[in-house]
Amino acid sequence: MKADIDMFRGAYKIPSELQGEVTWQSPSNIALVKYWGKYNGQIPMNPSVSFTLSESKTKTTLKFRPKQKKSVQYDFFFEGKKAPEFGQKALSFLEKATPFLPFISELDFEIHTSNTFPHSSGIASSASGMSALSLCLMSIEQKCNPTISPDFFYQKSSFLSRIGSGSACRSVFGSVVEWGVLDGLSESNDLYALPIQDVHPVFRDYQDTILLVDEGSKAVSSTVGHSLMNRHPYRETRKIQAGKNAKSILEVLRQGDLESFVQLVEQEALTLHALMMMSHPYFILMKPNTLKIIQQLWAFREQSGVPLCFTLDAGANVHVMYPGNDKETVMSWIKSDIVEYCQNENYICDHVGKGPKKLT
Ligand code: DP6
Repeated sequence: MKADIDMFRGAYKIPSELQGEVTWQSPSNIALVKYWGKYNGQIPMNPSVSFTLSESKTKTTLKFRPKQKKSVQYDFFFEGKKAPEFGQKALSFLEKATPFLPFISELDFEIHTSNTFPHSSGIASSASGMSALSLCLMSIEQKCNPTISPDFFYQKSSFLSRIGSGSACRSVFGSVVEWGVLDGLSESNDLYALPIQDVHPVFRDYQDTILLVDEGSKAVSSTVGHSLMNRHPYRETRKIQAGKNAKSILEVLRQGDLESFVQLVEQEALTLHALMMMSHPYFILMKPNTLKIIQQLWAFREQSGVPLCFTLDAGANVHVMYPGNDKETVMSWIKSDIVEYCQNENYICDHVGKGPKKLT
């Protein structure tokens, strides 16, 4: 489907006394089929599919009042303290969102944000952070235009989140989410994500234990990584592969086919890192302990018969994924054999979640 950008331009009267505060809590997500590479305007090079997480969340309160001075006035607080360094990202996002949310230029803002996961954990906060902020902005739009439908509310929230960070557009919906034009999926488009309804019950309660191998900041940012796909020798092959994998994973998720799930998810994770290693300049984000965990996981899967698998995002941490029924077995293996490979023995227990929540 070709979604039209013009449907998201706000044409409504802005009330003169627009003032108040809204709070949203929005989760992170983990891609099963990876978004890697983009065109101008945050258009993905290929379709992606993710699980929305449940425990790794950002809570954002947006306070707003009529503009006092001509220049942009906003204050950004991270975990209760003024944090202008993080605020820069929010400011540049607000600027990019203004053509679609005309009230931004009429208001002063105070943004208060906090994460349920440690900032230094290496868990990308851009997906949860940008989606939480976008949902808050849409709650303001709703005050200006109370007639907008729930579908439009979430589609535009996803559209705005994408402008802030591509993967953030998938965090606006729960459970399984697709983003990017995908052959055979009629509503799919590049501008906002799509919740996938036809999912086997085993995947509604899938577990994701995030092993924190390296809590430092990444040597190469996702933004740089994406840009290296522009002239990547495997670019065209990757586009075809991702399209095929996205189609296959949706079928696997529908059928509850755990064996194919394991194969596809691990192939995607290793492809992402292989693409990084084949970039110009090349780089490696895995650490020795990332590989040790992968090898232990393969041995444990072989010996136990538990259909667990791993995925990686753009970093060294390992996401161990498995059905809810196997939680006890997998957690006791992690505690006895795996925590030694995690930095400060840190890990986060997460699972597939229902999506964002409005708090006030
Ligand atoms: C490897 O969404 O962080 O996690 O659009 O530049 O903000 P920007 O990139 P970002 O990239 C995520 C890349 C990934 C794969 C994925 O989540 O699909």
